[in-house]
Amino acid sequence: MRICVLGTGYVGLVAGTCFAENGNDVICVDLNKEKIEALNKGQIPIYEPGLTDLVVRNQKEGRLSFSTDGPASIQKSEVIFIAVGTPSSTDGSADLELFMKAAETISDNLNGYKIVVNKSTVPVGTAAKVEKLIRSRTQAEFDVVSNPEFLKEGTAVDDFLKPDRVVIGTAKESAYKTMAQLYAPFVRQGNPILWMSNVSAEMTKYAANSFLATKISFINEIANLCEVVGADIESVRKGITTDVRIGKHFLYAGVGYGGSCFPKDVKALLKTGHDHGQPMEVIAAAETVNQTQKELLFRKIERHFDKHLKGKTFAIWGLSFKPNTDDMRDAPMRWW
Ligand SMILES: NC(=O)c1ccc[n+]([C@@H]2O[C@H](COP(=O)([O-])OP(=O)(O)OC[C@H]3O[C@@H](n4cnc5c(N)ncnc54)[C@H](O)[C@@H]3O)[C@@H](O)[C@H]2O)c1
Repeated sequence: MRICVLGTGYVGLVAGTCFAENGNDVICVDLNKEKIEALNKGQIPIYEPGLTDLVVRNQKEGRLSFSTDGPASIQKSEVIFIAVGTPSSTDGSADLELFMKAAETISDNLNGYKIVVNKSTVPVGTAAKVEKLIRSRTQAEFDVVSNPEFLKEGTAVDDFLKPDRVVIGTAKESAYKTMAQLYAPFVRQGNPILWMSNVSAEMTKYAANSFLATKISFINEIANLCEVVGADIESVRKGITTDVRIGKHFLYAGVGYGGSCFPKDVKALLKTGHDHGQPMEVIAAAETVNQTQKELLFRKIERHFDKHLKGKTFAIWGLSFKPNTDDMRDAPMRWW
C-alpha cells in the first residue's frame, strides 16, 4: 500500500518505518525541516533501540522516504496516518490544534478516495470532528479510522512489529478490511485485530493508559505505607503479583509515572469525564498520588540533610521517565 504518515516523531517514525519493513511504500512527513534533512542523511533524531538499522535499510531499498511536502505526499498515498503531538492544554484537555491542522491539509489534498487514520491519541469524538471538517472542505470520498497506538518508548520497534493487539475503529467494513490487510503481517503470531466503533477505539487508548497509571499510583501508595509500618515493598510486590488476577507487570514502586503520555492522557480523560458530568474518582486519585510521589524523594533528601541543601551537589542517575529512551517530556525528574 502507499502510505503517508504526518508527524515523524516517536510514533510516526516507528510506525512508518515498520510499515515499510513489511513491504509498503511509505512517506514520512514532518514540518520540522532539520528533522527531515537529518533523516534523509540517515541520522535518526530520537533514541529508540533497533530503529536506525530499520530506517537505513528501508530507505536504501526505496520503500521509505522523508519529506516536508505534506500536500504532494498525501496526494500520492492511499492511507494517511496522522501521528502529530496532542499535548495537554492548560485545562487538561488534549490540545488538538496541530492535529486538526494536519486534518485540514489532508482535506485540501484529497485527489480520490483515501483512508484517514487517527494514530495520535485523541479524545472521544475526534474522529467525528475530523470527518465533519473534511466533509466541509472537499467532495472527495474518504473514511476516518481511529487506530490508537500502544507502543512503548524503549521497545517501540518490537511493540509495533509484534503488537499485543491492533485496535481499529470504524463503522465502515471496507475501511476495516483495508486496515486489517495492512496490519496482517504484524499479527502472524495470532494476536487480535479488534474492530470497534471510532468512539470505542478512542476510549480504549485513554482507558489503557489511565489503568496503567492507576497501577503505578496504587503500588506507590502501598510502598509508602510499607515504609511507615516496616514492611518490605519488594516482598509485598512479589507476594501480590504471583496472583494471576493481579499479574506481574507494571507494579513497581518508584518516583511516580511520567513521560509524554500518561500524565497528559490521565488529565485528558479526567477532563472528558468532567465535560460529560461523569466523575472519574479512581483516576483522579491516581493523579493526586502521582503528584505527591514526585516530591517524595526530594522530601526524603531534605529530611536527611535537615533542610541544609545549599551548596551541596547531587548526582541523579536516570533522568528520563524510564530506561532506553531519550524522551524527557514530563519526566518526574523535571519536577526537581
Ligand atoms: N511517544 C509515545 O510513546 C506514544 C505512544 C502512543 C501514542 N502516542 C501518541 O502519538 C502522538 C504523537 O506522539 P509522539 O511522541 O510521536 O510526538 P512527537 O512530538 O515525537 O512527534 C510529533 C511530530 O509531528 C510533527 N508535526 C506537527 N504537525 C505536523 C503536521 N501538520 N504535518 C507533519 N508533521 C507535523 C512535529 O514536528 C513532530 O516532529 C501523540 O498523540 C501521543 O500521545 C505517543
